[in-house]
Amino acid sequence: MTTTPDVLLLEKREGVAFLTLNRADRMNAFNMAALAALRAALDDLYVDREVRAVIVTGAGEKAFCAGADLKERAGMSPDQVRRFLKHIREALTDLENLPKPVIAAVNGIALGGGTELALACDIRLAADTATMGLTETTLAIIPGGGGTQRLPRLVGAAKAKEIMITGRQVRAEEALRIGLVDEVVPAAEVLERALAKAAEVAAGAVIAQAYIKAAVDEGTETTLSWGVDREQLYFVDVFETDDAKLGVRSFLDNGPGKATFTGQ
Ligand code: COA
Repeated sequence: MTTTPDVLLLEKREGVAFLTLNRADRMNAFNMAALAALRAALDDLYVDREVRAVIVTGAGEKAFCAGADLKERAGMSPDQVRRFLKHIREALTDLENLPKPVIAAVNGIALGGGTELALACDIRLAADTATMGLTETTLAIIPGGGGTQRLPRLVGAAKAKEIMITGRQVRAEEALRIGLVDEVVPAAEVLERALAKAAEVAAGAVIAQAYIKAAVDEGTETTLSWGVDREQLYFVDVFETDDAKLGVRSFLDNGPGKATFTGQ
């Protein structure tokens, strides 16, 4: 296990990296040290080819992440708050742009920056005890980690506005219904389920998965015609990989799902 420092744990096991926010006594809230550690860990994960899937979660049983550390913020100058915002925005963009699938295991409370952290992941699993929401208006502020942009892209503008304007908390079953999470599981099983999903992904074709991420993320920012053109270019790139050749050959020889991909 690598410790980067102990506010964030980075552990790698058989192609899967676990990023665990490790401030359980503060509901895993983000302080400046945790953001710096997150950015350093993401730099590492960006280049580490051994890591094929990432799980993001929070230490302890109660919280995934309760957003910004409001106790630290109380002592910050306006410039320090602006710096914090720059760091969280950039960290979550780095997370979103990792060229490998990222799974949020939302193991409990995920408010403000906690929901923003989950929104920057590719797949979201939630404990049945989880509570999510962009509750910043209850503090008379607004989300600052991309929430006003990523939430509407996921659940639609009207639902996103309703959630953010009221600042209400969203229970796990509603999060599933509106598409804020992809799956809800009993709290005791959320990490195990995330690991099963990550292992499934890690055993897959990593280059194709990375291109799927890029095509979807870029495509939702642009016109349909530009997006399908970009998909075509990506298809041509992916088709040239050893894995693509292996995938087709293995299908013809052995049937579906039997290939062991190399990531080349
Ligand atoms: N920043 C700093 N400390 C926080 C925190 C945050 N965002 N959220 C929780 N904590 C701390 C609490 O102050 C408390 O510390 P203490 O034991 O030293 O008093 C500890 O974590 C436990 O929280 P507590 O409020 O006692 O637990 P709870 O189960 O009653 O409520 C929350 C949990 C998360 C619902 C509640 O703490 C909360 O609403 N936090 C703020 C969340 C928020 O608005 N985030 C958006 C920030 S922009």
